[in-house]
Amino acid sequence: MDIKGNTAVVSGGASGLGEGAVRMLAGEGANVAIFDINAERGERLERELDDAPGMVKFLIVDVADAASVSAGLETCVSDLGAPRILVNCAGIAPGQKICGSKGPHDLDLFKKVIEVNLVGTFNTCRLFAEIALAADPKESGERGVIVNTTSVAAYEGQMGQAAYSASKGGIVGMNLPIARDLARDGVRCNAVAPGIFLTPLLEGLPEEVQESLAKGVPFPSRLGQPAEYASLVREIITNQMINGEVIRIDGATRLQPR
Ligand SMILES: NC(=O)c1ccc[n+]([C@@H]2O[C@H](COP(=O)([O-])OP(=O)(O)OC[C@H]3O[C@@H](n4cnc5c(N)ncnc54)[C@H](O)[C@@H]3O)[C@@H](O)[C@H]2O)c1
Repeated sequence: MDIKGNTAVVSGGASGLGEGAVRMLAGEGANVAIFDINAERGERLERELDDAPGMVKFLIVDVADAASVSAGLETCVSDLGAPRILVNCAGIAPGQKICGSKGPHDLDLFKKVIEVNLVGTFNTCRLFAEIALAADPKESGERGVIVNTTSVAAYEGQMGQAAYSASKGGIVGMNLPIARDLARDGVRCNAVAPGIFLTPLLEGLPEEVQESLAKGVPFPSRLGQPAEYASLVREIITNQMINGEVIRIDGATRLQPR
């Protein structure tokens, strides 16, 4: 799928990895709708990218809310055009052990993480798919492409990551069936599994903790940059043979128990 001249939706696009994807897509000439709940960051990014080759529009959208995503997509279609590209980055990562000194894991917290990370990803995929399937195919036969964001924690979650890992494992599990469901109509679905990336999520940690995280990465021994994540997203969007796959981008990291 070409990036230039097409419309993209980036959930969680106001910050971190999603922001990296928004910058890449707008820089390469796509119109981009940012779906996020952080209005301050989203509006700032929209203003900053005002003179990018592609148009950027921030919309307050809660990915876990069906009506909110439907309304966001409706505005996207009318203001920027029907989206051909969906990049899902919205996510949260609160930690809690299955049973700790304060008692068993809060069940509502578990449900919340699943609701945002897994249900939110599924929700945007299903509503995006409806639009993509209604569009005319490109000359290549392609109608659209989805890039979801899981995590290496889907495979080797650390202590306190049961909820997060379950949500990210769900994204891995549904990747191939979604790709199969949409294959006949020329819509691809893939997921990226990042290791440890320097985003506002991690920037809040003390420098020595960041350094120790970086040391645990075999090569390169540093935290990943959102632009490196965005570069893989670009490859997935533009390379038609990548379909039904989950790709790790982690400098050979294998998360330790803690
Ligand atoms: N940073 C890392 O090291 C890392 C590693 C592996 C996976 N990931 C995944 O990458 C994605 C992006 O992470 P990040 O590090 O850029 O985090 P981030 O906190 O910088 O960005 C996440 C964005 O999602 C938005 N968001 C949260 N809940 C939402 C909702 N209900 N609806 C719409 N938007 C919502 C937030 O407002 C925020 O702008 C997440 O799914 C995360 O799990 C990150």
